[in-house]
Order: sequence, then C-alpha cells, then structure tokens
Amino acid sequence: MKVLVVGGGGREHTIIWKLAQSDSVDTIYAAPGNAGTNLLATNVDIGAEDVTALAKFAVSEKVDLVVVGPEVPLCMGLADIVEEAGIPVFGPSAAAARIEGSKAFSKQLMKKYNVPTAAFGDFENFDEAVAYAQSLDADMWIKASGLAAGKGAVYAADPDEAEKILRGMMVEDEFGDSGHRVVIEENMKGEEASIFALCDGADYRLLVSSQDHKRVGEGDTGPNTGGMGAYAPAPIATPELIARVEKEVIEPTLAGMASEGCPYKGLLYAGIMVTEDGAPKVVEFNCRFGDPETQAVLPLLDGDLGEIMMACATGKLSTVDFVTSDGFAMCVVMASGGYPGSYKKGYPINGLFEAAAVEGAQVFHAGTKLENDDVLTSGGRVLGITGWGKDFFEARDRAYKAVESISFKDVFYRNDIGHRAAAHLKNK
Ligand code: AMP
Ligand code: GLY
Repeated sequence: MKVLVVGGGGREHTIIWKLAQSDSVDTIYAAPGNAGTNLLATNVDIGAEDVTALAKFAVSEKVDLVVVGPEVPLCMGLADIVEEAGIPVFGPSAAAARIEGSKAFSKQLMKKYNVPTAAFGDFENFDEAVAYAQSLDADMWIKASGLAAGKGAVYAADPDEAEKILRGMMVEDEFGDSGHRVVIEENMKGEEASIFALCDGADYRLLVSSQDHKRVGEGDTGPNTGGMGAYAPAPIATPELIARVEKEVIEPTLAGMASEGCPYKGLLYAGIMVTEDGAPKVVEFNCRFGDPETQAVLPLLDGDLGEIMMACATGKLSTVDFVTSDGFAMCVVMASGGYPGSYKKGYPINGLFEAAAVEGAQVFHAGTKLENDDVLTSGGRVLGITGWGKDFFEARDRAYKAVESISFKDVFYRNDIGHRAAAHLKNK
C-alpha cells in the first residue's frame, strides 16, 4: 500500500523506518519530512499543519493510509477531513484529540470515569484560580489547558508563585488562547513512565513501556524540553504496574471516550506517575506517539507496522499479530546549543556514515534538512540516536558509540540517559 506520513521530526522518521520494513507497504510519502525520511520516502513540500493541502494530496495520489504524527493537525481535524474523503487514517478525530488538546477536557474525563490522576481545579476566571491556589497551601502545577508545544506545565513552589504564573497565563497572554483556561494540580511524587496503547475505536493493545528524560540537563536539571532521550522497556513498569494501568487507566478512559461520543483510534499515550505507594496516576494523555520515546519503542516492535496501523484505522486490531522483541533500546537526543531556548541553525552535520556503521544502532533525524548534498541542522532537537541490544547496558553503549562519532557546531546531549534504568537494574 501507499502511505502518507504527516510530520517531520524524529518520531516520524522512526515510523517511516519501521513502515519501510513492512511487507504491506511499498510507497511512503513524508510531509514535510526531513533529511532522514528522504532516504526512505518521498518528501512532499506540504507543512504538517496545512490540513487542506494534505488531504488533497492524499486523494490525488490515491494514498491507502494516512498516518498523522504530531498533535496539532489532529486537533485541527486532519483525521476527520481525510476520513470524509474515504481514506483510512491512523490518528484520532478532532473530538477525540481533545484528550491532549484540552487539559480541562482530559481532567474532567478522568474525574467522571474514575481514572486516577492528580487532584485539580479548572478555571477560566483569574480570581477564582488564585483563590484555589491559595487554598492548597502546598506546591502545585499550573497548566495552560490548550496546546503549548510541551511548555504549558509550570511548577509553582507556593501559592504566591502560583499567582504570578496564573497572571502570566490568564491576564498577560503568555500562551495566547491556550492559557485562558488553566488547570491547577497537586504535585505528585514518583517516577514517570510512558505507556502507549494502539487503539482501533473499540479494542486496544499496549506497546512496550518507555521512559523519557524531559529536563535539558544531566541529573534531571534545568528547563523542560520535548525530551532529551528515552529507553524501553522501563524497569519501573513492572508486569503488575502494567496490569494496573490497563485496568485502572486505559480501559476506563477508552470506555469513557466512547460514552462521550468520541471513540478513540490511533495511539493513546498515557504519561503515568508511579507514585511512592506503587499506584499509577495519570500525568497527561497525548493523542499521538511520544518523541523521543518512539525512537526506543518501535525498534523493539516485531510486526508489520503498516498492517498494524491499517488495522487500527479500520477497527480490526484483533486481526493482526505482533510481539515485543527481547532486549532493550535506548535513544540519545543530540540538540542545538541553546535549546530549549533560542539556537542557531544551518550547521553541517558530520559523521553520519560512521554512526550508521555502528552495530545495533540507528540514526533518526529530527531537525535536519538536505541542502545540495549536505545534511544541515534545522531545529532544536537535531538527531535521535538509538542503540539496541540484549540488555540495557549493551543498548546504551551502542547508542553512545554512535553519538560520539557525530559532530556539529554547538552540539550538546545528555551523558546520563537511562540513569534510572541503570540504577534499577544494578539494584536487582
Ligand atoms: P505535562 O505537560 O502535563 O505533560 O507536564 C510536563 C511534565 O511536568 C510531566 O512530564 C511531569 O514531569 C511534570 N508534571 C506535570 N504535572 C505534574 C504533577 N501534577 N505532579 C508532578 N509532576 C508533574
Ligand atoms: N516526549 C514527550 C512527548 O512526546 O510528549
């Protein structure tokens, strides 16, 4: 079949890499793609948010399946438009994508269907929000309800700090419309894991668990980023925990979405806090694969991703077979100096061939572009280098071996990706 993959980051390169290995897939388009997807797919010069042009392209090229990577086009209704044109889509409708696009919606959904999550209030009125923050007398998280490119959750150590953050969001428009409605949450303590469920509108199947590294600096310090590295499986996600997540989180959430009239199709990402007493609580839901978790999760998938995504799009998940391979995978993100703040672009990237030659390693492109025959940096997160192997330590060694062969001006990466897994595994 012919598949159009929407997006141009590391997640999309990884999806395309796996689709290219699928017997069911013979042609792949990437819109807009990057210098890495260009090797496996035909890059099409349409932006990931140009939903009308994307749907038109899918129809004119007689594409069999559209796979939507990022959340913004999903929240804009790309899946609805493509489906109306008669083409199956991997990704939720705009109504179902509210599970990520509106934190107020997802928190109210969790409350209504008894899905464990942090205690919260949701507000459109500044004075009421401040009064609630004052009543907590503790640290908390203030979140813009709408999409904010991963930057909309801010920690407040006390109610006074909370008031300043609320003023920025609700009065001073720091997040535009996204911050006019806010969610205020209790601060949960524990370790996080990312759980991905493939969904077909009725049925679901989990992929292997993973763990992201959100902070920019080693030792989990500094500002939040889109993610600086990931590994799979996450040792914190024991079989007992996974069983609880399925029963207490995934099943009631999918049943709740169906009862609300927006059955969920595509990938449901549950960000889980494993609290100190071992109970899972939802930190957030996303309506798409995580980035960079995908770069660690998909290399461990043993199955035909094209067939799996088509089965999700057409309500036939139970008809496909796939398993998780043994072993571990780990991805290290190489970023542009200054990220997640401002950074320069357009630097040549060296050593890609040497990295590709490392056994058990794969270079996934994110913010890269091809100019003449050179691969140049074009974003904050530039590359995700994944290593895999029989155990965590082999995966980590291979990832860093490939990382060390790549260079570009002002590059930085974290040297401690996987530190939690290493600690869990050493203590065994
Ligand atoms: P979000 O945008 O909701 O995913 O939040 C981004 C990150 O902030 C999460 O991955 C957590 O590390 C942290 N975070 C958000 N909400 C909470 C909370 N209620 N308690 C503890 N940490 C949180
Ligand atoms: N890595 C976090 C996310 O994709 O939202």
